[in-house]
Amino acid sequence: MKYSAYYVEEINGSFAASVKKLDLNRPQNEFVQIKVSHSSLNYKDALSASGNKGVTRQYPFVPGIDAVGTVNESASNKFSEGDEVIVTGYDMGMNTPGGFGEYICVPESWVVNKPKNLSPLEVMSIGTAGLTAAASVLKITQSSSLHELSTLVSGATGGVGSISVMLLSKLGFEVTALTGKSSSENFLTNIGATHILMRDEYLDTPNKAMNRPLYSNAIDTVGGDILSKMLPQIHPHGVVACCGNVAGIEINTTVFPFILRGISLCGIDSAEAPIEFKSHLWQKFSDEWKLDLSSIIKLTTKDNLNEEIQLILKGGQQGRVVLTHEE
Ligand SMILES: NC(=O)c1ccc[n+]([C@@H]2O[C@H](COP(=O)([O-])OP(=O)(O)OC[C@H]3O[C@@H](n4cnc5c(N)ncnc54)[C@H](OP(=O)(O)O)[C@@H]3O)[C@@H](O)[C@H]2O)c1
Repeated sequence: MKYSAYYVEEINGSFAASVKKLDLNRPQNEFVQIKVSHSSLNYKDALSASGNKGVTRQYPFVPGIDAVGTVNESASNKFSEGDEVIVTGYDMGMNTPGGFGEYICVPESWVVNKPKNLSPLEVMSIGTAGLTAAASVLKITQSSSLHELSTLVSGATGGVGSISVMLLSKLGFEVTALTGKSSSENFLTNIGATHILMRDEYLDTPNKAMNRPLYSNAIDTVGGDILSKMLPQIHPHGVVACCGNVAGIEINTTVFPFILRGISLCGIDSAEAPIEFKSHLWQKFSDEWKLDLSSIIKLTTKDNLNEEIQLILKGGQQGRVVLTHEE
């Protein structure tokens, strides 16, 4: 049997993607074959689709770190044909063919049951970006009881950023959204941002080893100069959840925010998180953290993925892009 997939090939050192028919393998040894109804676009998928060998070592390849669908055939005792399931992260979409194909075949240990009161579309509106936002928010709520000042979210219109803003706002936090998009004011206000800061203006002010505390806590989705700048602006004993690197992998800091204010810089890794933790986050999204994400999603198909990938690589996406395999 053949299935259709967004397929990235390396031809003489260049990378090109097209929709191709591929052979479907049967699952063996506790693997589960899933018919994927939806996937979503994350920054890591764009890196894989454009030939970043730090993400995907060998091509040709089918990216897609997120997938939701129905078990089609199972070689696992845990999952049976017809089960509605979710797979996010681990090696899927990195070196194991991912959700940009209509079928995936993955180890049972990567699979969670889909909560009944989340639709497949809702699940992929959340995706890895949402799990990362939720893990960041959880880190803040568990590690810091400070709420007097607002919480700063960088890359606020992006996938992780926008869901972070929505979750924080739902939980009653005042949110300052830091963005590079001057046209995004309405979008950010509508999803719950109380204050909006433009990235150029934020970076224009001089860097200091210590600054007046301006934010109780922060979620940083971009790294680099922006993370460096926010550390001295965090209130004593506040928490910064660090989860992204689109602005750079290096930070420039002193020890002062840590030893004079006791702030915590906490790393977030949702891709390799234990499956029980992912399951816990999905339950939260299906219950007390349920969000209406319909206003921040854009639906696309495999044929239109190239342009969405180019846009996310330029930092131009707003909200989440959901890929549907359904006709
Ligand atoms: N740690 C984890 O487990 C984990 C999981 C998922 C994603 N991530 C990482 O989180 C980051 C965001 O992922 P995503 O899927 O949300 O991507 P995304 O949708 O593209 O969001 C990134 C946002 O960052 C801002 N941005 C882009 N380029 C920038 C630059 N050069 N300088 C400063 N800001 C810039 C833009 O928002 P504004 O225009 O609003 O500023 C952009 O929309 C990526 O680095 C990704 O690899 C980490």
